[in-house]
Amino acid sequence: MKDLDRLAAPGTSERELLDRLAPESLPRHVAVIMDGNGRWARQRGLPRVEGHRAGIRAVRESVEAAARLELEALTLYAFSTENWKRPRWEVRTLMALLKEYLAKELRTMVDNNVRFRPIGRLSELEPEIQASLARAVEATAGNTGLVFQIALNYSGRAELVDMVRAAVAAAQGGTLTAPTVDEEWVGSHLATAGVPDPDLLIRTSGELRVSNFLLWQIAYAELHFTPVLWPDFTTRDLLAAVADYARRERRYGGVVEPGHDNGEEAGD
Ligand code: IPE
Ligand code: IPE
Ligand code: MG
Repeated sequence: MKDLDRLAAPGTSERELLDRLAPESLPRHVAVIMDGNGRWARQRGLPRVEGHRAGIRAVRESVEAAARLELEALTLYAFSTENWKRPRWEVRTLMALLKEYLAKELRTMVDNNVRFRPIGRLSELEPEIQASLARAVEATAGNTGLVFQIALNYSGRAELVDMVRAAVAAAQGGTLTAPTVDEEWVGSHLATAGVPDPDLLIRTSGELRVSNFLLWQIAYAELHFTPVLWPDFTTRDLLAAVADYARRERRYGGVVEPGHDNGEEAGD
């Protein structure tokens, strides 16, 4: 593990960084709150939307790096249910950039064996966006590598509300009873069903909050905050976060001590 301390040291090549990460210490699922586009633009005297445009490189690079690391899943928070409060021009630009991204990157996703999966209240997005999303889902449905979840018109609370609505409807229809509902049932009725919970949650731009992202799923995620603004985020930053994660000791409420059985045997 010592080696990992120097993983992100300047002068180390990406290849070297990758080689030093032991496969068993890698997260299965990384989730990212991509933040700081507006501040990146402001620092340059540019309109906020230029920050979003510049952020696309970081999206592309992160998806490629996650695929190279052979992660099972990468989830990027692209647009929250609260982001509709932003100026209309900014929202329109974000949607246009999404369409552009899908058109440009679909081929790469297919070639990299990436399965694309948008999550969120997609039916509230423009029909044209919904159509591009559906095309990307269909074109990558047979892929078996990285699951790339993009959160659009997403919030953790809205997702939980939708799950409860589905539960009530199923109960009223007579197909669900209270004892059937357990943590597994809840997890399998969220947008992220079938994907393991994030092991690592990264937030860029120095903000120390969760902003309504994957509230159920991050119960035991390791958190990594970086001051880097999203448009400046590179593969190296992702690797540094993964190296940071690899050093963590995850306890899940138990005790990590040699010889301790963590409750697997009764009566000690
Ligand atoms: C993140 O950057 C992108 C989205 C939320 C869509 P911001 O636009 O939130 O950038 P800041 O936080 O204003 O710098
Ligand atoms: C979180 O960023 C949402 C996304 C990254 C899409 P925000 O910039 O919207 O979050 P707050 O407002 O700072 O909490
Ligand atoms: Mg922000």
